[in-house]
Amino acid sequence: MRKLINGKGIDLGVCYYPEHWEESLWAEDLDRMLEAGLGTVRIGEFAWSLIEPREGEYTYDFFDRFLELALEKGMRVIFCTPTATPPAWLTEKYPEVLNADMEGNLIRHGSRRHYNYNSSVYQRLCCNIVEKSASHYAKHPAVVGWQLDNEFNCERDTFYSESDTEAFRCFLQEKYGTLDELNRAWGTVFWNQTYTEWTEIYVPRKTNTNSNNPHQMLDYYRFISDSVCRFAKMQADIIRKYAKEGDFITHNGMFANIDYQRLGRESLDVLMYDSYPDFGYELDTYSPADIMRDRKWSRNLSEVRAVSPNFGIMEQQSGANGWNTRMEAPTPRPGQITLWTIQSIAHGADFVSYFRWRTARFGTEMYWHGILDYSGRENRRLREVREISRKIAAMQEISGSKYDAKVGIVKDYDNIWDSQLDRWHGRVEHFSQKNLFEAMELLHVPFDFVYLENHVTLESLRQYEVLFYPHGVILDRERTALLEEYVAAGGKLVMGCRTGYKDMDGHCVADFLPGLAAKLSGTDVQEYTFVPPDEGRVMADWDGVAIEAAVFNDLLAPVGENAEVLARYTSSYYAGTPALVRNRFGKGEAYYFGGAFALDTAKVFLDKLGVADPWGDVISLPESCEIAVRRGAEATYLFVLNYLAQPAQLLLKRAVKNLWTAAEETGEVVLEGYGVKVYVL
Ligand code: GAL
Repeated sequence: MRKLINGKGIDLGVCYYPEHWEESLWAEDLDRMLEAGLGTVRIGEFAWSLIEPREGEYTYDFFDRFLELALEKGMRVIFCTPTATPPAWLTEKYPEVLNADMEGNLIRHGSRRHYNYNSSVYQRLCCNIVEKSASHYAKHPAVVGWQLDNEFNCERDTFYSESDTEAFRCFLQEKYGTLDELNRAWGTVFWNQTYTEWTEIYVPRKTNTNSNNPHQMLDYYRFISDSVCRFAKMQADIIRKYAKEGDFITHNGMFANIDYQRLGRESLDVLMYDSYPDFGYELDTYSPADIMRDRKWSRNLSEVRAVSPNFGIMEQQSGANGWNTRMEAPTPRPGQITLWTIQSIAHGADFVSYFRWRTARFGTEMYWHGILDYSGRENRRLREVREISRKIAAMQEISGSKYDAKVGIVKDYDNIWDSQLDRWHGRVEHFSQKNLFEAMELLHVPFDFVYLENHVTLESLRQYEVLFYPHGVILDRERTALLEEYVAAGGKLVMGCRTGYKDMDGHCVADFLPGLAAKLSGTDVQEYTFVPPDEGRVMADWDGVAIEAAVFNDLLAPVGENAEVLARYTSSYYAGTPALVRNRFGKGEAYYFGGAFALDTAKVFLDKLGVADPWGDVISLPESCEIAVRRGAEATYLFVLNYLAQPAQLLLKRAVKNLWTAAEETGEVVLEGYGVKVYVL
């Protein structure tokens, strides 16, 4: 994938809906955007009817006029394919394009994303509108890039239409070849589910017990992702025929049931993300106990970075959240638009486009505020955006620099999807993912997500001193071999309970656990149990440090001369049994921990493995502030972000340059509430 958005500096932009406003406002709007430093607009993602108002009838003049004006003003344009919202004439004439719920009820026209990816009729009509749009608009000099659709799988990430069932059968035929093989992989002998014809197979349906066959479910998630990827590629292949040299293709994520690694590889030049940290303050879900609130978006941004090291933000929060039916959240407080913009950039964004210019006066999203309110009058948020533009102008040298992390959290889609459908897996996975992220944040450990897939090389893993693969329940030989190579070459790998107990079909292995990871971990799991609820917290002792072994416990024994017990359980009937084994493997070390990772446990691991607070010799700062680091060819940039309303006390242990003021700072420094600093090292 291409490294930079158009290869030039950090850009700001804004989402605009020319169809929502009187045409007489366009010129003034574009002038005001440019004056505020917003040089790119994204348009057209829901505007199918403006190009094809009736089947086979095309009208290009609306966007022609807009593009001409953009060109005249010097505004760059990201044009979208409008396939997220098929028009009423289309769904009325071809109801087979609609998605359905699990009971088979059609998802009707009247909102958005009501289509399914697999209807051949919809695919034909989409190819047609994409071909018409790209062949007409792509050559326009104002156009610099293309967005495919809008937020694949947003709002609804499961598909149960008849077209999906037909496509699911093809997907399975291709995967398994024979029904015998499918019956084996799905374990259909259990509860007499054996299939004798392909036509007996459906996407998951309502069943008694509300449980579908788990192996079918795993394939179903793989199938949804496959459907999205094929749908995206179908569009990207058309756009590539017409796009000018240098124009990019992107998509705005990220949502469930999509393998973004594949989507990116097959169809995109760069991945973008829609970042709405104000959800951290949503009225119905806000919890004062959640110390991460808007800071959680750093985790999402790290997910985007795992696909595109330098990515874009297509929609960055600039006003209050709110549909008229849900998702109410307060207006960003002074400083928060800046904080969230720099949060994106700190994590690798080289393009940030705000959502949206003017707040819609009608429709479901009339409370989802943009920079301007309904009247368009000058306001505090626009003043803050102007100020951000000045800051961005002074930090152009950062573009293209890479996020710097020595710790990785390993993931793969088979395990992500298995943890969605399997409660035993889900309990440990969600618990550990949350706590590992929080521990890294609180101990100021920049980290990356690292996806274990065919395209990952040993070289790319070796940049990490420590990898956590908290619950690699499903393992295959290739992934295990790569992890073995990583450790043998000197890496440290930490695995948690339940590793390796399933194969790629999601069957439990008949081997001794942790299955394929037995050799690498030097560990034998002799028994296992959920932490009994009446037991309280199960603890283990690691050289005098008490760590919790939460949620689930594997009772361990070391195997082989390189394996040693580092910690033993101190509670429950298995007190005295090993809870943590370290295996020296080649030049590195594999750790097998018998529990899921509680917050304090994760902190102890980071500390004992020597990766906590890696910038501690430069700065000390309170837990409430995040640090992020981008490394360029010439310099290293240290971002400090304060997510609280209260000022934070920083201690700079050596003189560093403030990127915005160019002044040297050292010693005690106060960072104001919601404040941000960027230091050049
Ligand atoms: C995004 C979407 C936008 C808008 C925004 C606010 O998910 O891409 O079209 O809906 O949220 O709801």
